[in-house]
Amino acid sequence: MQFSRKDVLDMESLSEDEITTVLDTAERMKEISERPIKKVPTLRGKTVVLFFYEPSTRTRTSFEVAAKRLSADSLSISAGTSSMVKGETLIDTAKNLEAMNPDVIVIRHTSSGAPHMLAGRVKSSIINAGDGTHAHPSQALLDLMTVREKKGEIRGLRVAIIGDISHSRVARSDGIGFTKMGAHVVLAGPPTMIPTGIETLGVSVTRHVEEAIHDADVIMMLRMQKERQQRFLFSTEREYARVYGLTKKRMELARRDVLIMHPGPINRGVEIAPEVADGPYSIILDQVTNGVAIRMALLYLVAGGTRNADSD
Ligand code: CP
Repeated sequence: MQFSRKDVLDMESLSEDEITTVLDTAERMKEISERPIKKVPTLRGKTVVLFFYEPSTRTRTSFEVAAKRLSADSLSISAGTSSMVKGETLIDTAKNLEAMNPDVIVIRHTSSGAPHMLAGRVKSSIINAGDGTHAHPSQALLDLMTVREKKGEIRGLRVAIIGDISHSRVARSDGIGFTKMGAHVVLAGPPTMIPTGIETLGVSVTRHVEEAIHDADVIMMLRMQKERQQRFLFSTEREYARVYGLTKKRMELARRDVLIMHPGPINRGVEIAPEVADGPYSIILDQVTNGVAIRMALLYLVAGGTRNADSD
């Protein structure tokens, strides 16, 4: 097994072998979620803190479900209910949490780099659940798991990631993750939503959505992140949907067995037509299911479960 990390912070720092270990472990964890009794004692006695400084539906709940299925004790803290509203700094909050001796702190934060800063200052393992526009490694891992499960392997696939690339930590983490695992990643979106120099990640870039979709094995649509945009980057949502939205017509340019993905939350009728999001090629809810398995694997790997999931 190739994994002996204290923290999981981004996809850059994970090797191909480590990613494979996470995906293989998650496959075994998924089997636990399919049993009538979905619980094993693997992390009994371990404590997991879920510290979410930004809203979340999928990531937060799936980490919580993952911790419970492995019998860890979990507790949730949000910015609004913590003493950060009284002016306590992130590092002071984390130091005080650490004083209660948790094994893992899962953190989502509006500021890029916040999990990295904590990782160097606290003894608990830190798992990045999304930081600013920087990284969302558990999302990339669940996306890799879902594609590997459906296609058999990742190497050689053409993966189109389309939308608001500039503000998307998912685009960055998926771009790095899929490239590392041997796929060819093409990013597409309006020029105002594509950061300069993004090609250095090893991906291709086009402003024409049709070019990205052509012969794609996987199409991942991204939400326009208006809450992160400092200024309006496109004329209207209606115009955005017309030029960049994924419609049934555009899907015909892709391979016949194309997989349609979206990290969520979806803006129906903006970046993706409802009939595509709910259609037969969509694996959006499979991504959510696999999110629990990936987060079980990450908690297990960093919290050092002493027993293998197979033996429980
Ligand atoms: N994909 C994702 O991070 O969704 P949430 O914001 O709901 O966690």
